Amino acid sequence: MEKQRLLYSGKAKDVYATDDPSLCVVHFRDSATAFNAQKKGEIAGKGELNNSISTHFFKLLESNGVETHLVRQLGAREMLVRRLEIIKVEVVVRNITAGSLSKRLGVPEGQPLPTPVLEYYYKDDALGDPLVNDSHILTFGWASADELNVIAGTAVRVNEILLSALSALNLLLVDFKLEFGRYAGRVILGDEISPDTCRLWDAKTHEKLDKDRFRRDLGGVAEAYQEIYRRLQGGQANV
Ligand code: TMP
Repeated sequence: MEKQRLLYSGKAKDVYATDDPSLCVVHFRDSATAFNAQKKGEIAGKGELNNSISTHFFKLLESNGVETHLVRQLGAREMLVRRLEIIKVEVVVRNITAGSLSKRLGVPEGQPLPTPVLEYYYKDDALGDPLVNDSHILTFGWASADELNVIAGTAVRVNEILLSALSALNLLLVDFKLEFGRYAGRVILGDEISPDTCRLWDAKTHEKLDKDRFRRDLGGVAEAYQEIYRRLQGGQANV
């Protein structure tokens, strides 16, 4: 497998073609953005940590029957993945109130939800990724009804798997974002699962161990990502 030209440069990752048209290489950078890239920064070592953390979660999901784009981790900052036709819908699953849900509905952060909330956002930077519903997705043809069924079912299943794995590490999975794409006629999970795309709180102290530390200028950003990595590696959780 040979890495070839840059296909796409995102806010935190670059994607390269390979000599196999069905595969590409994702390179995880240290760059961080928030609020639709109005806030920019660097988190030292984030690229390596997010690559390893995402690889860990994708392997866990695969071992539980969820198909992902992961082929294998290539090195500290790179992952070999299946080349997906991206579906322009971001899927957010919420277990505890926080972030834009709290803001939009005027509810305090930290309230456990009786059942997970599923939200869709139209993936369009120029529009600031607006909240949309099933009807918008079907009407504008961003995904078919069958695809949306797979997406919703997979998101719920991913939530169950991650909730159980993370609770064993004394972590609360507050919410997270998933992206899906088409591959060989199937819809599979793409992008990344990391402290950039999840809210993770220490179960006991509710300390934030995710990108909210960067978004809200809380300090200790790299340390929070390292703590997630350490717990996933079987390091002593702070019980
Ligand atoms: P939100 O509360 O800001 O809508 O975020 C919900 C979850 O989605 C949170 O875990 C962070 C993640 N997320 C992304 O991965 N990318 C984004 O661009 C946004 C806005 C949120």
